[in-house]
Amino acid sequence: MLDPELGRSVVELDMVRDIAVDDGRVALTIALTVPGCPLRASFQEQVDRELLPLEGIEEVALSFDVMTPEEKAALTAKLRGGVAERTPGISVHADTRVLAVASGKGGVGKSSLTANLAAAFARLGHRTGVLDADVYGYSIPHMLGIQQRPIAVDQMIVPPVRGDLKVMSIGFFLDENTPVMWRGPMLHRALEQFLSDVHWGELDTLVVDMPPGTGDVAISLGQLLPRAEAIVVTTPHAAAQQVAVRAAQMARKTNMRLLGVVENMSWLTRDDGTREELFGAGGGDALAREVEVPLLGRIPFDPRLGAYADRGEPIVDVEPTSEVSRALMELAEAIAGTRREQGVGIVKPLPLVSA
Ligand SMILES: Nc1ncnc2c1ncn2[C@@H]1O[C@H](COP(=O)(O)OP(=O)(O)OP(=O)(O)O)[C@@H](O)[C@H]1O
Ligand SMILES: [Mg+2]
Repeated sequence: MLDPELGRSVVELDMVRDIAVDDGRVALTIALTVPGCPLRASFQEQVDRELLPLEGIEEVALSFDVMTPEEKAALTAKLRGGVAERTPGISVHADTRVLAVASGKGGVGKSSLTANLAAAFARLGHRTGVLDADVYGYSIPHMLGIQQRPIAVDQMIVPPVRGDLKVMSIGFFLDENTPVMWRGPMLHRALEQFLSDVHWGELDTLVVDMPPGTGDVAISLGQLLPRAEAIVVTTPHAAAQQVAVRAAQMARKTNMRLLGVVENMSWLTRDDGTREELFGAGGGDALAREVEVPLLGRIPFDPRLGAYADRGEPIVDVEPTSEVSRALMELAEAIAGTRREQGVGIVKPLPLVSA
């Protein structure tokens, strides 16, 4: 039986206590990290599912208790196993791939692509996390319909889960009205703490929605994601491309590996099957040529993508066979495919590689 958020066995995490079996009646207590844990129902459901089918068990009585500070500290130590000691920056396993979705300006579809790419990676079988690091306009919890808040265990923040995805947003920690007031060193420290305190567990891929633009916030964040690979999103018209070039340069300056370019809103397919290029053409190609990385994909415009996002659902999950979903799945596959090439010459040596 797994803790729904920690994703590890509750037995292994010493969360089970007082098991008593009395003539077909099993009573057990689970110690939770927080008193009002919103996941009680999930525990109850798992206990019933696992224990009731067993021969001789007729009834399972589940009760809850709260961990003592010592027990929480022990849990933290267990969960931290395998992750390097606190470093300035994101704490993820060494083999977790961190993909930073960046753009030169706002509104190009960065968050939509982040949410859908994450869902696409999960569909490909990756253990996937999404990190909404856009301090200006965190939108991932809304796009993925996340209601729960993260749980804090000692100094660790445990991301809420949504289906197969672990989701964390800087927005969970910001007051609606304050983000723009956070600047300079204060913002950097807050981001640093936020990134190092989140407990991701074992992940294959973490997709990060970056703040748009190339200002100090984006740079700060870039520095805190030293092993990240950047994907720059642009729209098809030529003017957008010039702005996106700056994002690509910034990614390189902050020691990210620039993985490639994605062109979003490339065309609209009409009911009669004809394609209309609503926002010009060629921007993705031109950007990829200019910064000398591949064009990883072109994503068509489909208003349903936004409509589903407003309901908290990625279109790749709801309508996996639609044209836009197929393009998004192909993009995820193309990105996954680049991993195999790592270390065989495509990676340019970086001037200042952080641990
Ligand atoms: N391929 C697409 N087809 C249709 N609509 C799209 C597509 N991509 C994004 N959109 C819509 O464009 C708008 C902006 O998208 P999104 O919020 O993802 O962009 P962003 O780059 O994250 O913006 P911001 O800078 O505000 O964070 C949203 O209304 C979204 O639904
Ligand atoms: Mg956004």
